[in-house]
Amino acid sequence: MADEIKIREMVIDDLARVFHLGEKLFTSSDHPNLYRVWDEYTVTHIFEFEPELSLVATRRKKVVGFALGYVIEKPRTAWNYGHLVWLGVDEACQRMNVGEKLLDRFRDILRSKGVRIILVDTQADNKSAIRFFKKNGFGSPTRHVYLMQNLDEPGKVT
Ligand SMILES: CC(C)(COP(=O)(O)OP(=O)(O)OC[C@H]1O[C@@H](n2cnc3c(N)ncnc32)[C@H](O)[C@@H]1OP(=O)(O)O)[C@@H](O)C(=O)NCCC(=O)NCCS
Repeated sequence: MADEIKIREMVIDDLARVFHLGEKLFTSSDHPNLYRVWDEYTVTHIFEFEPELSLVATRRKKVVGFALGYVIEKPRTAWNYGHLVWLGVDEACQRMNVGEKLLDRFRDILRSKGVRIILVDTQADNKSAIRFFKKNGFGSPTRHVYLMQNLDEPGKVT
């Protein structure tokens, strides 16, 4: 079917599209923490070091979503962690199970690498993402706090 969503490993020609899709999704107004750390180097770095965990979703050959992450090797323990760092789906294709398909493939790859735990994180007010992760079996949320300091004016916040 032409409209079918397909998941595949990212290739070099996808880099710009993935980056720009992320720019549309991780906006300073909706997701300020994600906005601050999303840049070209994030995408190229993960693509370079974890090509198997750099996935895209396509519809009619157009990239409509991505999942990017790492395996965290823990020396001297039997537990390796997978970290799904970035997950995004084009607004026009959200709530069509694209995110779930990306996550399913990402988990399959982790399992094939012997990983037993997967971590995800997002802003505490990112209700749609939290709902998405809970629907897909994630639990045990713990809080992590970001603090900021202006280095030009250390007393001033932002
Ligand atoms: C989170 C995200 C990846 C989900 O992708 P998706 O393709 O829409 O997800 P799916 O279609 O597979 O799953 C849909 C489920 O996710 C949750 N969900 C997704 N969008 C939602 C929204 N706008 N409001 C509430 N719940 C939402 C719901 O549980 C929904 O199930 P339902 O339709 O039965 O209520 C997508 O919303 C997105 O790209 N958000 C912006 C980027 C982001 O926040 N990424 C996560 C942190 S890096």
